[in-house]
Amino acid sequence: MTSSPHASDAEDLTIREAGQADLLAVFRIEKAVFPQPWPFASFEQFLGKPGFLVATEDGAVVGYAIADVTTSAGRDLGHLKDIAVHPTAQGRGIGRALLRRVLLSMAVAGASVVKLEVRESNDIAQSLYDDVGFERVRRVPGYYDDGEDAYVMVLDVADWRG
Ligand SMILES: CC(C)(COP(=O)(O)OP(=O)(O)OC[C@H]1O[C@@H](n2cnc3c(N)ncnc32)[C@H](O)[C@@H]1OP(=O)(O)O)[C@@H](O)C(=O)NCCC(=O)NCCS
Repeated sequence: MTSSPHASDAEDLTIREAGQADLLAVFRIEKAVFPQPWPFASFEQFLGKPGFLVATEDGAVVGYAIADVTTSAGRDLGHLKDIAVHPTAQGRGIGRALLRRVLLSMAVAGASVVKLEVRESNDIAQSLYDDVGFERVRRVPGYYDDGEDAYVMVLDVADWRG
């Protein structure tokens, strides 16, 4: 993986597990960036789980990622369910840093492969996922409620454990 040319912009970034006090800020970002945001209660159910991370700058939540690991057909599969950066903080390397940390947390939790779904039109997210090494494995017609197709992308993280 290459490092972001913007990484130095996010020098004072902290990435840590999410807590109850972060939920409102997370939910506000979710509503600001997604046409079909998750309801607040969806975030509560991931509290205390290692795959729910927030990025903070000067104590303010500027982004988050949510992932989990489940066992399927005898292997542990990671699933990146949600990742977002506040609109005013985008383009400074925060999304890339969050993605790397959440992928690492899934690898440490035992995942050998991580999958995600991304809107066909979401060129920015796809550019990030491509750059990290994700590959498109299929297209799911009408995956989103508004009828847009999704790409399913996967990444082998078995050797991320070091
Ligand atoms: C996708 C998202 C999380 C990326 O976070 P970010 O902090 O803006 O991204 P970064 O600054 O770390 O950039 C990482 C890479 O994303 C891509 N990218 C970021 N902004 C971009 C832009 N304006 N145009 C094209 N590519 C862009 C580039 O590949 C970039 O790598 P580079 O810096 O080496 O060029 C953020 O744009 C976002 O929250 N989008 C709305 C929510 C969303 O779509 N989530 C993904 C759902 S699948």
